[in-house]
Amino acid sequence: MLKPHPLKGPNKFKLGVFSMNADGGLAMTTAPERWRARWDDNLNAARIADRAGMEFLLPIARWRGFGGVTHAREWSFETFTWAAGLATATENIALFMTVHVPLVHPLQAAKALATVDHISGGRAGLNIVCGWNPDEFAMFGQTVGERTYDQAEEWITIIERAYKSREPFDFAGDFYDLKGVVSRPASLQAPRPVTMNAAFGAPGRNYAARHCDYLFSTFSEISEGRAHVVDIAGRAAEVGRDVGVYTVCHVVCRETQQEAEDYYRRYALELADQGAVDEHMKKKKEFAHSHDEKAFTEYRQRFAGGAGTYPLVGTPEKIVDDLIRIMEQGYAGAALSFVNYTYELPFFCDRVLPLMRQAGLRMN
Ligand SMILES: Cc1cc2nc3c(=O)[nH]c(=O)nc-3n(C[C@H](O)[C@H](O)[C@H](O)COP(=O)(O)O)c2cc1C
Repeated sequence: MLKPHPLKGPNKFKLGVFSMNADGGLAMTTAPERWRARWDDNLNAARIADRAGMEFLLPIARWRGFGGVTHAREWSFETFTWAAGLATATENIALFMTVHVPLVHPLQAAKALATVDHISGGRAGLNIVCGWNPDEFAMFGQTVGERTYDQAEEWITIIERAYKSREPFDFAGDFYDLKGVVSRPASLQAPRPVTMNAAFGAPGRNYAARHCDYLFSTFSEISEGRAHVVDIAGRAAEVGRDVGVYTVCHVVCRETQQEAEDYYRRYALELADQGAVDEHMKKKKEFAHSHDEKAFTEYRQRFAGGAGTYPLVGTPEKIVDDLIRIMEQGYAGAALSFVNYTYELPFFCDRVLPLMRQAGLRMN
């Protein structure tokens, strides 16, 4: 029998690892120990997280980088094949694939996703992104459309029907006109693997409310989190659904608060890859709506440190306090990034996870 998907497991607050498939992870720094995202690095980090009982590995979907001296995030592994490779090297952890709706045909996605679900024994997850970066889309000869969430509705509907239907079917929509569709095997998870939509704005929230199990989203301050969670819960309730919310943080966890803050200053201020940070912030501000305004005006260090996500910086105790506060806002879990995942995950797992167990948030 299929084991429950890790995101459906007993821990009250789920933990995952974000963006380790990409150069730098989420950081834009010239620090020599920065993450290179080579395959062995990915393998080692995945095994550490898996053995420690973390719930999920979540890759970023990137096709080109943001320049600077490090060519930040230019190097990134494609997420279906990355997940397939890691599925054979891990035992319990969920393997997400992050997929750009306009750049990947739904039948290609359906088959690749089902393949990873079979390889992993039902641990696959789909993180749907509509994308925002015009330079990235231009590489595919495309522009970022106005109606990508409408396209995404058709996209996920085709995947779900392809898994469900025993007979070939036709699909006629605004974006896809398909004849005699079949896709075997279906995913092991029924009716489809666990899904998230990574978004911040209203159309993305509505899409998650209607079609996904979770929204994957950001906040600027922990205290503002509840408003986001209530907002998405309201949108889901309107269509008779229940949708959880995950967030994303960058982590510097050290024995002392001073050590953690010093290191955060070092890699994300003194050694920030300023050219890449400028380019990323400029592009994100102009084209993506993935953060609220404050993220751009007040938090340059957060962009260098972790793509504008919330910083968890301090001792294991401080980080557990922050995670508890995030959970209390209503979040189901958090995806975490580190400057160097293999150097930093062991300390995080050894010191933070037991404190979370003591606090009753996790059984493992
Ligand atoms: C937490 C989070 C993770 C995201 N991950 C990716 C990604 O991996 N690749 C990508 O191109 N866009 C990513 N996005 C951007 C979304 O695809 C989307 O373009 C952006 O959030 C703007 O649209 P929205 O208003 O629907 O949020 C992410 C957004 C959020 C909030």
